[in-house]
Amino acid sequence: MNHMFLEDKVAVVTGSGRGIGEAIARRLAEFGAKLVVTDINLDSARKVANDICANGGKAEAVFFDVADFDNIEEKVHGINDIFNRIDIWVNNAGITGSLPIEEITQESWDRMINIDLKSVFFCTQAVFKIMKKQNYGRLVHISSLAALRGGRSSDASYAAAKAGVVALSKCFALHGAAYNITSNAICPGNIITPMGKTLSWSKQDPRAYIPLGRYGTAEDIANAVLFFASDLSSYITGDTMNISGGLYM
Ligand SMILES: NC(=O)c1ccc[n+]([C@@H]2O[C@H](COP(=O)([O-])OP(=O)(O)OC[C@H]3O[C@@H](n4cnc5c(N)ncnc54)[C@H](O)[C@@H]3O)[C@@H](O)[C@H]2O)c1
Repeated sequence: MNHMFLEDKVAVVTGSGRGIGEAIARRLAEFGAKLVVTDINLDSARKVANDICANGGKAEAVFFDVADFDNIEEKVHGINDIFNRIDIWVNNAGITGSLPIEEITQESWDRMINIDLKSVFFCTQAVFKIMKKQNYGRLVHISSLAALRGGRSSDASYAAAKAGVVALSKCFALHGAAYNITSNAICPGNIITPMGKTLSWSKQDPRAYIPLGRYGTAEDIANAVLFFASDLSSYITGDTMNISGGLYM
């Protein structure tokens, strides 16, 4: 297999102006994919896209709020028009929360479910139509270990949203299979990013509780996305990969 094995592919990563999404965009571009870098922070998306281009890749930056539900369909079509297809779609954008059970309000709950779960359904619904017509697609969804073992540093609304993402991934896998669309979820453990640094685990010594003795990096997650985004994983769908240095086994 050629090193540039994503050469003819177009990839879109939500929330890729920084953190895990940025590492995913850069990794997919390194292997030849054309990138649409999307974020609510257009300046940071532009910086990532410019860097990819400076390194010989192809990338465009787009302002895209995954929770702007009235405009998702139109926005996704606009994104599709940039390179005239979407082969790989990575649902990465998200927020976290760390409210105690008693302090979660209907407002905080709705905000979390909108940004971390409802967005995943409606963005994927829009891109699913495009992928069906192409008879090809690779969907990757960034969930969390919180989906599997409860929110510890993060709260119950986050854990519930991320568990929903795992379930949605399987629904898209089932309904996409006939159209050569795969859908897989990734559950990261404790990953050092701007979000990670706000969470209580980042004050602990990883050697004390993570079997591999270190926090994860955004690149650790990007490497797994590369696998699910490529045809190396063409017989894997509806699956979930935990990337946690052995924190969850
Ligand atoms: N860092 C961790 O330890 C960890 C662990 C498990 C899961 N995750 C998940 O990984 C994903 C990325 O996390 P991260 O640590 O890189 O976070 P981060 O906060 O560092 O980066 C998130 C990016 O998403 C963007 N974003 C936020 N809301 C958005 C919206 N409505 N529309 C579009 N973009 C939006 C932000 O502007 C930012 O660029 C999230 O879904 C997060 O829940 C992270």
